[in-house]
Amino acid sequence: MGGMKITMIAALDRDRAIGTAQGGLPWRLPRDVSHFRAYTQGKHLLLGRRTYEEMTGWFTDHTPLVLTRRRDYVPPVGRAAHTVDEAVAEAFELGAPELVVCGGASVYLAALPYADELRLTWIDADCGGTARFPDHEADHDWETLESVRHEADAENAHAMTFVALRRLRPSSLRPSRLHLL
Ligand SMILES: NC(=O)c1ccc[n+]([C@@H]2O[C@H](COP(=O)([O-])OP(=O)(O)OC[C@H]3O[C@@H](n4cnc5c(N)ncnc54)[C@H](OP(=O)(O)O)[C@@H]3O)[C@@H](O)[C@H]2O)c1
Repeated sequence: MGGMKITMIAALDRDRAIGTAQGGLPWRLPRDVSHFRAYTQGKHLLLGRRTYEEMTGWFTDHTPLVLTRRRDYVPPVGRAAHTVDEAVAEAFELGAPELVVCGGASVYLAALPYADELRLTWIDADCGGTARFPDHEADHDWETLESVRHEADAENAHAMTFVALRRLRPSSLRPSRLHLL
């Protein structure tokens, strides 16, 4: 992989929900927004076209790679990619030390076999969202690097735990072509 790390960052509730049917997040948690901003600052990001469009205005110092099946899609900031493989190769060619996968649900699912690390915010609530984070423990083994819990407070209605996980052994699902990069 030429040293490029692939990380997935997501906030999920007890039921692994990450978003609502109408789009958008099922909660308002400034602490998690700050955590996301701090982790992603200045980095190459991979986002699904829907999440990218929800986040218009966010990409000040990031390089977003937008996953879409539309061949004619031109994102206002960043570049389009049509497969996860293509996005990974693109980030690598751009010299990115890390590619951060930022969702949504379909992108997390497609990119999970590529991920070296996960940065998960477990929200201590059942928010009732419909989009879900995939079961990262099925077929994948992780070690916990960090786990930090914050209680609810005046600004954050739910407690949350920031967890960092590192893949223990290469995924059997990892596309072999990547080893050639
Ligand atoms: N809690 C969190 O951490 C978090 C993070 C991100 C997003 N979210 C939430 O998740 C929800 C959005 O998730 P979503 O799954 O509906 O949308 P999404 O993954 O953001 O975007 C879906 C679009 O991405 C493209 N795409 C997805 N998989 C692809 C693939 N394998 N190859 C090529 N293109 C692909 C397609 O674009 P085209 O239609 O253009 O072909 C598809 O319509 C929202 O509610 C959002 O707020 C939550």
